Amino acid sequence: MTDPAKAFYLTTPIYYVNDAPHIGHAYTTVAGDVMTRWHRMAGEDVWFLTGTDEHGQKVLRSAEANGLSPQEWADKLVADAWIPVLETIDAANDDFIRTTQPRHMERVQRFLTQLKDQGFIVEGAYEGPYCVGCEEFKLAGDLITNDAGEQLCPIHSKPVETVSETNWFFVLSQFTDKLIAHYEANPQAIRPESAYNEVMSFLRSGLQDLSISRSTFDWGIEVPWDPSQVVYVWFDALLNYATAVGLGDDPSSEGGKKFAHTWPADVHVVGKDILRFHAVIWPAMLMAANLPLPGCVFAHGWLLVGGEKMSKSKLTGISADSIVNLVGSDAFRYYFMRAIIFGQDGSFSWEDLVARYTSELANGLGNLASRSQAMVGKYFDGLLPAPSEYTAADLSLQELLASVSAIADEKIRNFDFQGGILAVKDFIDAVNLYVTEQEPWVVAKDEANTERLGTILYTICDSLRAISVLYAAIMPKAMGQLWEHIGAVESGLTYTMSGVATWGQLKPGVAITKSESMFPRIEEPESI
Ligand code: MSP
Repeated sequence: MTDPAKAFYLTTPIYYVNDAPHIGHAYTTVAGDVMTRWHRMAGEDVWFLTGTDEHGQKVLRSAEANGLSPQEWADKLVADAWIPVLETIDAANDDFIRTTQPRHMERVQRFLTQLKDQGFIVEGAYEGPYCVGCEEFKLAGDLITNDAGEQLCPIHSKPVETVSETNWFFVLSQFTDKLIAHYEANPQAIRPESAYNEVMSFLRSGLQDLSISRSTFDWGIEVPWDPSQVVYVWFDALLNYATAVGLGDDPSSEGGKKFAHTWPADVHVVGKDILRFHAVIWPAMLMAANLPLPGCVFAHGWLLVGGEKMSKSKLTGISADSIVNLVGSDAFRYYFMRAIIFGQDGSFSWEDLVARYTSELANGLGNLASRSQAMVGKYFDGLLPAPSEYTAADLSLQELLASVSAIADEKIRNFDFQGGILAVKDFIDAVNLYVTEQEPWVVAKDEANTERLGTILYTICDSLRAISVLYAAIMPKAMGQLWEHIGAVESGLTYTMSGVATWGQLKPGVAITKSESMFPRIEEPESI
């Protein structure tokens, strides 16, 4: 159980504004949004942060290529693309941080000064390969060689550049043993297990000090004691998780109180490509500042196209809009959480999306809801009948609800979104089977059976009430509507997960209204 004095605090990475988002980025945000909505539905205090990473050479170069200053370019992309995509995918973030905001830049400078004063930042010289796509200093062993003998970044398949500069270093090497000890004592702090193992073997090979400033361009936060240098973009970016909630502010100030209430973050959701930054550099920075470490870094897999990471630079990016325009935001969220095991790579395909949409959402859940609403309309004038004596079939649905709610809770809290969804889907399938077997349309033929008919329809409706709660974090719009149409609001119920499996919450006599089709039939896109 989460500590009530502290909010459940989850972050997404902050996204580079070198280009517009694609569904790989939306995937990370949806996972974070589902997890935080789940905790909110359980009545917990939650803080969900996302935002944009705006400094560094990658953003600077794309701004130049577009004939704008980096700030103008960042402002434009944030306003035209990164904020709108949150609405497209229905993300309910509590804050949106931009690394060009004064609240961030000031706190970064203060943090840096503190680390320098404590002797954790020293002057040095760097020479070695750098990938601007990753914004990362690479080790020779990280690179691949192409036919022309060039050294390429394995993620971007582009040649690395040689950086040769005198700049400021964070003494990362001093933290190797402390990090190993921390992770040995807290194996749950990096998940899934494959990510944990990757980080441990990287740590065991020893860490080098990290260059944390650059002198050859000026798009970044100025190093407070050395205006000839700007802060290395990752050192700046990682700090967003703490600057956004008041890092270093006076404990009696608003920022200081916010920090006490949120820090440390419970979960940093990241893609596997940026795991080392989060599980090695970031905790070392926090250790140096004597701050508590995040509860967990969860590294998810990539959305692949043709076996490779989907990316705009390789022109394989698909926009969230193109999918949401076809199936809506709820189905978008459902599809990615349901089809891909969180923590593993997965391929997106339009065929799979349409097939699951049609069978699981339109035919499975949508049809169950509309049939039930129609039957209450036809046989009971749209008013929920009271149940009378329950039979074994009714009771076994009630028992199944209790077990699937517990399983879904356990799975989702442990990042098994697919497992959580499948548990709820098992219940939906069972309710559909119940309808088929109980044949309410046959029962309705004899007036002597009105009580039994009422019990069947009540059982279906109260099941739908529970489904609208259990799927609320995954499909907030459709489930919010179902909750209303099934009479939960008129029954005076609170939309919360606690007590979801308690049977018989809908009040007999409330109006059951027919909704617009929740998951209308879709025309197959031309690309199929
Ligand atoms: N700016 C850094 C993160 C700094 S966090 C302190 C960054 N930005 S990014 O825009 O390149 O990527 C952000 C997130 O999107 C990463 O978690 C990355 O894994 C995710 N994805 C980008 N393409 C992706 C796929 N094709 N598939 C799944 N996620 C992908 O890195």
